[in-house]
Amino acid sequence: MQYILSNEEFELFRRLIYDSCGISLALSKKELVKARLTKRLIKVGIDSFKDYYRYVTKTDKTGKELVHLVDSISTNKTDFFREKKHFDLLNTSILPSLIASKTKTGNKKLRIWCAASSSGEEPYTLAMTVLNHLNPDNGWDIKILATDISTKILQKAINGVYRKELLRDIPLGTISANFSSVIYENANCYKVKNHLKDIITFRRFNLMTPEFPFKNPFDFIFCRNVMIYFNPETQNTLVSKFYDCLPKDGHLFIGHSETLSRSNTSFKYIQPAVYQK
Ligand SMILES: C[S@@+](CC[C@H](N)C(=O)[O-])C[C@H]1O[C@@H](n2cnc3c(N)ncnc32)[C@H](O)[C@@H]1O
Repeated sequence: MQYILSNEEFELFRRLIYDSCGISLALSKKELVKARLTKRLIKVGIDSFKDYYRYVTKTDKTGKELVHLVDSISTNKTDFFREKKHFDLLNTSILPSLIASKTKTGNKKLRIWCAASSSGEEPYTLAMTVLNHLNPDNGWDIKILATDISTKILQKAINGVYRKELLRDIPLGTISANFSSVIYENANCYKVKNHLKDIITFRRFNLMTPEFPFKNPFDFIFCRNVMIYFNPETQNTLVSKFYDCLPKDGHLFIGHSETLSRSNTSFKYIQPAVYQK
């Protein structure tokens, strides 16, 4: 069956996607969108994009198909220890100084937000990094909030099972301390151990949510490789909300291909893709 997506229909989906998750799609992405949405059309048994649009926006009152649509559009590329310089900075500077100042004041809480956490490699990397410095058995209360808009990818993250080849660049000692070997779907995989899972909470959260619900600040925030999909205005709004979620001196990490507009932010530049309140 041949599915045809007209420019007018693409425009409707483009607007729907922008309104629901902030992702800005240029006309050059039309074929990609068509390929990804065609899978949903086949899955729900609808023959045309026009009827699918009506189904998502009118017939499906549960809103579930919109969640599936966003799942199918989002790009989830990620990796363990991706953009390693960020973890080097955490190891050599940010974590030691946070630990020193928290030890001095007796505040043994560490709160981290990994926004747009995809399939979990990034929050699990954060957990491994932090637990190399701190031991919850010594009274440290460590919590990593890992959020993403895609329910499908969050499920993968919660499952915490990864094909062995995805961990090929990680030292064997780190692997054996944090993963167990398992066979999953007939493949050799590693499963994340519970001491990492115990400090991470996975939640669906849309970064376009007008008011962020967090009562207490995070010590630092990772929001990497998602803002490239947003337009500058959406990026600026989001960055100022991150600013409000950090204490004085708190750090924001963004992707290395992203940058904050200096004229529009109160953050101080520290090094590529790292900013401080
Ligand atoms: C390319 S991945 C980046 C993953 C990870 N941060 C990294 O750098 O490796 C982008 C993630 O952003 C998520 N995303 C896209 N729009 C979002 C939104 N409005 N709110 C929350 N997450 C979103 C996608 O589902 C996807 O998992």
